[in-house]
Amino acid sequence: MGATTGSTEVQLREQVVRLGRAMWERGLVSANDGNVSVRLPDGNVLCTPTGVSKGFMTPEMLPVVALDGTPLRGELRPSSEVLMHLRAYLEDPAVGAVVHAHPLHATAFAIKGEPLTGLMMPESVVAMPEVPLAPYATPSTSQVPDSIAPFVRSHTGCLLEHHGALTWGPDLMTAYLAMERLEYTARITVLARQIDGERQLSPERVAEVRRRFGIPA
Ligand code: 13P
Repeated sequence: MGATTGSTEVQLREQVVRLGRAMWERGLVSANDGNVSVRLPDGNVLCTPTGVSKGFMTPEMLPVVALDGTPLRGELRPSSEVLMHLRAYLEDPAVGAVVHAHPLHATAFAIKGEPLTGLMMPESVVAMPEVPLAPYATPSTSQVPDSIAPFVRSHTGCLLEHHGALTWGPDLMTAYLAMERLEYTARITVLARQIDGERQLSPERVAEVRRRFGIPA
């Protein structure tokens, strides 16, 4: 199980609220968009409620669901996308937290249907060499979990076609920072294209970065 093991439910509730606020403040979500979840020490999942701004949540608003989606605790209904989150936990026991957002630049790529594959900076080679595109699925249906499942073990995030982006990690902060990096990657790609300056690192430079950071080719 992820590194969130060791944090109490009270601490995790506060962290979900803080990161929801950070997502909203950074413009990674608008209005009531996005959702966040984290594995609890008992194996169940704490998630954001449906239809609320992630910038204005309080810790007691967050419902708890079982890994099969059964609501266990909380007055508010779980996120309509909770099955997508649960699929990430089921696919990989190392996943401890999941973040879904609609960041502007990443969502533009998701609408276009273009995955983020460029290696323009050493940081991309190390932290996020590729952001694949999960094929379109109607929100809240079981097609959505199926669309992301193939990427969970091999990547740290993906674009959701015509929808937004999803990231995951061993703990909440890692999953959140992956969303920041995913959006940064999309944004810098747009900007580089605007000045006609999109330029990949050469294969030799990519190989050198991989060697130095111990990343298999
Ligand atoms: P929920 O409010 O149900 O979590 O849905 C928000 C969203 O972004 C759906 O894609």
